[in-house]
Amino acid sequence: MPDQLETLKQVVSAKNFEIIIVASGKGGVGKSVIAANFAVALAKNQKSVLLFDADVGFANADILLGLTTKNTLRDYLVGKMELKDVLYPTSYGIWLLSSGTDVGDLIAFRSESKLRLMDDFMKIVVDMDYAVVDTGAGFTEELLSFYEAADKLFMITTPEPTALINVYTLAKMLATKGIFPELYLIMNQSRNTSKDTQVLERFSYVLEKFAGWTIAEKLIVREDAGVSASVLKQIPFIETQKHSQPAQAIQRLSKMVLKSQSYEDMEPDGFFVKFKKLFGIK
Ligand SMILES: Nc1ncnc2c1ncn2[C@@H]1O[C@H](COP(=O)(O)OP(=O)(O)OP(=O)(O)O)[C@@H](O)[C@H]1O
Ligand SMILES: [Mg+2]
Repeated sequence: MPDQLETLKQVVSAKNFEIIIVASGKGGVGKSVIAANFAVALAKNQKSVLLFDADVGFANADILLGLTTKNTLRDYLVGKMELKDVLYPTSYGIWLLSSGTDVGDLIAFRSESKLRLMDDFMKIVVDMDYAVVDTGAGFTEELLSFYEAADKLFMITTPEPTALINVYTLAKMLATKGIFPELYLIMNQSRNTSKDTQVLERFSYVLEKFAGWTIAEKLIVREDAGVSASVLKQIPFIETQKHSQPAQAIQRLSKMVLKSQSYEDMEPDGFFVKFKKLFGIK
C-alpha cells in the first residue's frame, strides 16, 4: 500500500465519519426528499456532509437542491475527470456527488479504478463528518457490501401495507446475512398520525421479534403540501417550511443522529474496511 494511502488511512480513522444509507423496499416513498433535507439539517448543525446520489434510475438529488450536475462518479471512474470535479457544492452547505451509474455497476468496476477511487474519496472525506447515501428502491445480492458499509440505515416506508411488507423483506434479507446497521425506521406521508403511530409500533415489534433487528429510533413524517411544493420549487423544505411537521421531524432526526455514536469502539482499520465495502473492493 502506498505511504500516502497509509497516512490518509490513519487520518480518516481518527475521525468520526459516518455513512448513512437511506433505503426503502418500495419506490416513491420519499427517500430522496428525506435524504436531501436530512443532509441539509446536519449541515445546519455545523457538520460537513456529502450527499451521495446512488439512485441512477431516478437520480434527482440535484433537482431537489436546484442544481444541475453535469458530471458524475462515472466520469471519474472512466478516467475523464478528477473526483473533486464531479463533487458539487450547494448553497445549503452540503456537497453533492451523483453516482451516474448503477450501484451494481459501480461494484463491478475494475479494482484498479476503485482503489484510486478509495484513495481520492478518503482525501475528500477527511474534511467531512457524514455521507448520506440516497439509494434506489429494493435490493439485490450484489448490493450487500454497500449495506454492510452503513453505520446507520434509514428505512423509509409509508403507512401502506405494500411499503411495509417490502421494508420487512429488505430487513429480513439483511438480517439473514448478519447485516445490522443502526436502524432508523421512518414512516413518511402519514395522514393520520395516531393510527399510524400504532401501525409503526406494531411493525417495529414484528421487525424486532421476527427479523432480529433492534430499532434505534422511530419517526413519523406527515404528508404535507409544503413538501411537494418545495420539490417543485427545488428548495429543501427544511429551509422554506421550518415550522412544518416534516421539517421539525427531520430536525429531530438530525439531533438523534448527532447524539448517537455508533463508531465509538471501531477498530483502527474500521474506516478503511468500510470504504472497501462501500465500493465493493474485495
Ligand atoms: N411527507 C410528504 N408530504 C408530501 N409529499 C411528499 C412527502 N414525501 C414525499 N412526497 C412526494 O413524493 C414524491 C416522491 O418522493 P421521492 O422522490 O423522495 O421518493 P423516492 O423514494 O426517492 O422515490 P424513488 O424510489 O423513485 O427514488 C416527492 O416528489 C414529493 O412530491
Ligand atoms: Mg429517489
